[in-house]
Amino acid sequence: MAIKNIRQKILAPSLSLSYEDPLHLIKGKGQFLYDINGKKYLDAVNNIQHVGHSHPRIAKIAYEQLKKLNTNTRYLDENVLDYAKSIIDSLPKKLSVCFFTNSGSESNDLALRIARNSAKNRNTIVIDGAYHGHTISLIEISPYKYKGLGGFNPPPYVHEVPTPNLYRGQYNGRTSIEKYLEIFTNHAKQISIDGFKPTFIFESFMGCGGQIPLPASFLKNACKIIHDLGGICIADEIQVGLGRIGKHFWGFYYQEVNPDIVTIGKSIGNGHPLSAVITTKKLANQFNNGMEYFNSFGGNPVSSAIGQTVLKIIKDEKLQKNALNIGSYLKKELLNLKKTFEIIGDIRGEGLFLGIEIIAEINTIQPNPKAAKQIVNEMKELGVLLSTDGPDNNVIKIKPPIIFNKKDADFLLNKLDKTISSVSKK
Ligand SMILES: Cc1ncc(COP(=O)(O)O)c(C=O)c1O
Repeated sequence: MAIKNIRQKILAPSLSLSYEDPLHLIKGKGQFLYDINGKKYLDAVNNIQHVGHSHPRIAKIAYEQLKKLNTNTRYLDENVLDYAKSIIDSLPKKLSVCFFTNSGSESNDLALRIARNSAKNRNTIVIDGAYHGHTISLIEISPYKYKGLGGFNPPPYVHEVPTPNLYRGQYNGRTSIEKYLEIFTNHAKQISIDGFKPTFIFESFMGCGGQIPLPASFLKNACKIIHDLGGICIADEIQVGLGRIGKHFWGFYYQEVNPDIVTIGKSIGNGHPLSAVITTKKLANQFNNGMEYFNSFGGNPVSSAIGQTVLKIIKDEKLQKNALNIGSYLKKELLNLKKTFEIIGDIRGEGLFLGIEIIAEINTIQPNPKAAKQIVNEMKELGVLLSTDGPDNNVIKIKPPIIFNKKDADFLLNKLDKTISSVSKK
């Protein structure tokens, strides 16, 4: 494969390629991707192309705005204001001020700056397994990275709490959430005994951590503890926002929490580098401490026009409802599949954000990354794209563009049935 050899020579070796036999894609349309040989794949994993690959309305608006004007936020422009207004309208009233950035990492880094500027300290509580981005400030609050290969001990101001994972977490049973909350409270109190206000950053549904919906009462109580101590809660919505989970537009609504800062990215630009931080007037005013916040690209007219169009498409095509309907159907059928195959340990998630945990045997729940990898590679050969993640790399992630329909769900289920059956026999 000539292109693979060229890539290996000139692109950084720490960039990974998906699948044993990597894909060379040349076209995307809706929920489908096409490789150089014309083979068609159902995309069940690319959550960034939220409203579908190469959406004609997005291509059109990008081209029209590029032809007209592209500058930055140092000039008055309606595009960024229209877009900011639409985002703010989708959030709780207190979140009324926007910053625009170009990646999820940039948003989370800025969110930490805003929180730490207000709290006047860096003490941050993070959940084990979480991933919040690739910059220095974020690797050190991402156990997914700092505990993995090439990782390092986090600095003393990072306080890691266990994942409240009800399937294979440290605690099980009826009182497990109380135990997780007790540990959380101890960390938060320790920070405040030392005279500091804590910052807590969380994903309402953990992505890289293994598609784990955090138990609602955990997050609700955890945020209350932080707020009672005068601290700040940051909801990282970069994976699950924008209607993906179906019942709610943003994941934290599902969890009934009341964040002070929300970070969004990935899907909001449908593949165009666009992300945002939305916070309260109070935190934004405190952050206005004399140091200008300038971002060369964040909030430019082209990106803003694209972001606004993504929101319009979700509304016009009723995609949040679609995520709810198709996601519920898919989850129900996956639960049926679980009854047939012992290596399916757990099915979890909401809307079109689902996870299949692959295990060795039902009695041990031992993670089975080998089988999970085989399933994903064989599914690719059958024309369906998926991936694995989680601390044990044994969770198959389903997070397609939210235009996924029943026919797509049935195709995915049919191929999964075949593949898991073949892998189970090996
Ligand atoms: C929850 C979460 N936060 C932040 C990020 C970082 O976003 P980006 O890759 O756009 O920098 C990711 C990326 O996977 C993510 O999943």
